[in-house]
Amino acid sequence: MNSKTKIITLLCIAAFSVCCSPSLYKPTTVDLDAGKKLYTDLTIEQLNKGLQLYADKCGSCHALYKPREITPARWTEMLPEMKTKAQLTDKEYDLITRYLKSKNATTN
Ligand code: HEC
Repeated sequence: MNSKTKIITLLCIAAFSVCCSPSLYKPTTVDLDAGKKLYTDLTIEQLNKGLQLYADKCGSCHALYKPREITPARWTEMLPEMKTKAQLTDKEYDLITRYLKSKNATTN
């Protein structure tokens, strides 16, 4: 690979990782409104923290599932099992659950 091709390849990878992957999962005010129906005291900070914990704790054994790729019933079934696998504290579990359930409740 010559150096020009190398630079172009690197730029493409950088652009992809900045623009595409995190935004796929990023919580929005639409998620917040939907989530408030489940958790009345929910804040956008909690959703952002939940996303960060989800990315940190849940991607080591398998790829991160998109929140809407899994049905709400399946999340309810799997989350307690994954809490043990990822060795989450109650607080971390609560934030990850809030994030996934809120994101799951919207279609944006
Ligand atoms: C120590 C390894 C490990 C960690 C960490 C882990 N998982 Fe898993 N996960 C697994 C294994 C193994 C399976 C599949 C086997 C099963 O059904 O128990 C699985 C399955 C799943 C499924 C089911 C997917 C389907 O097919 O329906 C979901 C959802 C899931 N994990 C979410 C999570 C979340 C959320 C976290 C973070 C809290 C997490 N996982 C952390 C090992 C892990």
